[in-house]
Amino acid sequence: MEHTANAADITAAAATLRAGNLVAFPTETVYGLGADAANEDAIKKVFAAKGRPHDHPLIVHIANAAQLGDWASDIPPAAYTLAKKFWPGPLTLILKRAQGVSDFVTGGQDTVALRVPAHPLAQALLNAFGGGIVGPSANRFGHVSSTTAEHVRQEFGGAVDCILDGGACEVGIESTIVDLSGATPAMLRPGLITAAEIEMALGVALAAPGAQSPRAPGTMEKHYAPRTPVMLVEADLIDELARSFARQGKRVAVLARNARQPLIDKLTWIAAPDAVAGYAHDLYANLRLLDDAGCDVIIVEEPPLAMAWAAVRDRLGRAAAGAEEID
Ligand code: TXA
Ligand code: MG
Repeated sequence: MEHTANAADITAAAATLRAGNLVAFPTETVYGLGADAANEDAIKKVFAAKGRPHDHPLIVHIANAAQLGDWASDIPPAAYTLAKKFWPGPLTLILKRAQGVSDFVTGGQDTVALRVPAHPLAQALLNAFGGGIVGPSANRFGHVSSTTAEHVRQEFGGAVDCILDGGACEVGIESTIVDLSGATPAMLRPGLITAAEIEMALGVALAAPGAQSPRAPGTMEKHYAPRTPVMLVEADLIDELARSFARQGKRVAVLARNARQPLIDKLTWIAAPDAVAGYAHDLYANLRLLDDAGCDVIIVEEPPLAMAWAAVRDRLGRAAAGAEEID
């Protein structure tokens, strides 16, 4: 039975943050593993719980754009343009960091990632706490992100002091990250908000991340990955491949956008929503379900090439990247 956090839970969670401990909280994208962004000892606990390398920078969540100046400096007008249009919402901005922002937040870079989340519980927590909250996705390093409180419990057990339950995350995949720290805005991570929407709002073309862009190590190849190997396969070829695995005695899991099942045993098949919003909403929960099904391989239908699917394609491509590439 789902318990949705109430006002007393928010007060307790804010106190937990003030005490330098960890609070997992829902956002509209995925759950975050929160700590006081001004407390290095608390931030160290985030890295320890996730098993994440220290040079991977964290996003600082703030209550509203008025707090940008607490964390960033030399803020360009483009930041306010995007903030006005997309905040609160699933957009993260990379800006030059303000003096005093910890190297543990920025990974030692001179930039900082900032986001105003839209989820009412995230908003309530930020307002009750008052300061910035670092919030990487609430999953062990390299693993599938969490879109329910139950996923967070599965990932961390008792290692997280407090979990705010806000139900299933609406968007389901992480925020779009746009770098505004250089001469030309660049897209570092695709998300629900597309490159075209950012370009339309700014009136300029986005650059591809270049050598001079800030590193976004979390966007490295192997990521968002179940333990079971994932293969991306054209819809037409799924039946044949599933049959051939089955002939070898392998147990096969399939994530496709239709319910057409090949007539073989030992098959777990999830028919995901056809439209991108529903597909993204369910994506990580579906990958977790298939991972838990005890199969030898997860076959995922190649998503469409349309721009709206760019973020889903990005996550699936990383989930399918070779296991030897992790770390
Ligand atoms: O939707 C989201 O963004 C979620 C929710 C919880 O807000 N958070 C999230 O955090 O996805 P995380 O830590 O899993 O991913 C943050 C990404 C990483 O790829 C990191 O490298 C990049 O943002 N990043 C953070 N600070 C950066 C910086 N200063 N420059 C470049 N990339 C940065
Ligand atoms: Mg992550």
